[in-house]
Amino acid sequence: MAVDDSAWGTSGPSSLESRFFVDDGIWRDAPILTGQTQWQPLTGVKNILVTGGEGFIGSWLVRHLTIKYPDHYNVVSFDKLDYCSSLNNARMLESKPNFSFFHGDVTRPGDVLKCLRIHSIDTIFHLAAHTHVDLSFGNSYTFTKNNVLGTHVLLESIKEYGGIQRFYHISTDEVYGEALAADMAESSTLDPSNPYSASKAAAEMIVKGYVKSHGLPAVVIRLNNVMGPHQYPEKVIPKFISLLRRSKPLLLHGDGRHTRRYLYAGDAAEAFDTILHRGTIGQTYNVDSHDEVSNLQLAEKLLALFGLPAGDRDAWIRHTSDRKFNDRRYAVDGSKLRALGWRQRTGFDEALRVTVEWYGRFEGWFGDIEGVLTPHPVVGGGKVVRSGCKGMAPGMEEDASTGAFERPAGNVME
Ligand SMILES: NC(=O)c1ccc[n+]([C@@H]2O[C@H](COP(=O)([O-])OP(=O)(O)OC[C@H]3O[C@@H](n4cnc5c(N)ncnc54)[C@H](O)[C@@H]3O)[C@@H](O)[C@H]2O)c1
Repeated sequence: MAVDDSAWGTSGPSSLESRFFVDDGIWRDAPILTGQTQWQPLTGVKNILVTGGEGFIGSWLVRHLTIKYPDHYNVVSFDKLDYCSSLNNARMLESKPNFSFFHGDVTRPGDVLKCLRIHSIDTIFHLAAHTHVDLSFGNSYTFTKNNVLGTHVLLESIKEYGGIQRFYHISTDEVYGEALAADMAESSTLDPSNPYSASKAAAEMIVKGYVKSHGLPAVVIRLNNVMGPHQYPEKVIPKFISLLRRSKPLLLHGDGRHTRRYLYAGDAAEAFDTILHRGTIGQTYNVDSHDEVSNLQLAEKLLALFGLPAGDRDAWIRHTSDRKFNDRRYAVDGSKLRALGWRQRTGFDEALRVTVEWYGRFEGWFGDIEGVLTPHPVVGGGKVVRSGCKGMAPGMEEDASTGAFERPAGNVME
């Protein structure tokens, strides 16, 4: 059966915020950030599609593959340009003959098939997703639509297209749920605990179904938290940096003692590069980090980097209500990937220093981010909003105790 755009109400034009059309040239002074690995190119790989290529991690991969393999791989960044993306993330590649951008939505079969055919794609890295856990407690339908249906549409389109030799599905350590004791192996049970991680686990199950039923040549890659330049400031590290740059205090969810393992985005790009060139189709690989940091420790490290006296800590670090459920810790065992030759290159402190410096140089990269710097944001009308903002989504209320803004009723089908 041919897939078409009318399935699941996914037809119709996409609307873009005006900032996507504005090129103020901020990217011209930016370094082209990539990882460092460069493997022997593969003969069977020529045209690589990266979904979510204008987002944080996707753009690191797009830049890495475009720059490191100029004579071997053509790279197509496929992105619907959601609120958290920026064309600036790959604008520095526009003059490269082996790079192109395709404005499309993975939930629309017509967009996907057109792109696969025009560019004769043979390899896909699928990163497009709604990714912010905080938002998934409110409007969770968008997570199911983009992460689960989006993956399903992509796979049906691949089946109809018939030319994909390698499909790399990017997932997260969060699919395992809390890791209170031992590190999770690739064979550990998936036990997600929030709508975001549930949608990522569900997407993996669909991939698995297509591997068994249709022989999809797939690899699943589950990463720890990733950090670095080019990340939209809704996530904790760029958000805290942006707050300190505005001399505003940091609001920690709950007691702030939840820990996460962080990997520099250049190392994540190297992990993808290594798995592409040395990994085995049909396998799952964890991508781990040896740097485990609590939100409280992160805040303290940032205060030090900003030169704020430790004695003023209580003025700068405050607490707000926790997420509805907040996993205390994630931890995966990445020894299977390390056996392919990958190593974490950048430690947390160095990655944090580089990240602080980058956000200092490129304020304005993502346009107006004032509405994003709230502890529990919501999305309305395609952008992050908070009470008092012009264009705030109807039905949102301010939590006077926390300054947080939530949509009480939850879901709106876009
Ligand atoms: N950031 C992390 O720490 C982390 C950790 C583990 C796994 N991941 C996974 O890595 C991937 C990329 O994460 P990120 O942090 O770069 O996310 P991001 O939010 O920065 O970027 C996601 C990109 O996907 C695009 N997108 C969303 N829905 C789309 C759709 N329907 N069609 C086309 N494009 C769409 C967005 O416009 C955006 O450019 C995701 O799959 C995420 O689950 C992220």
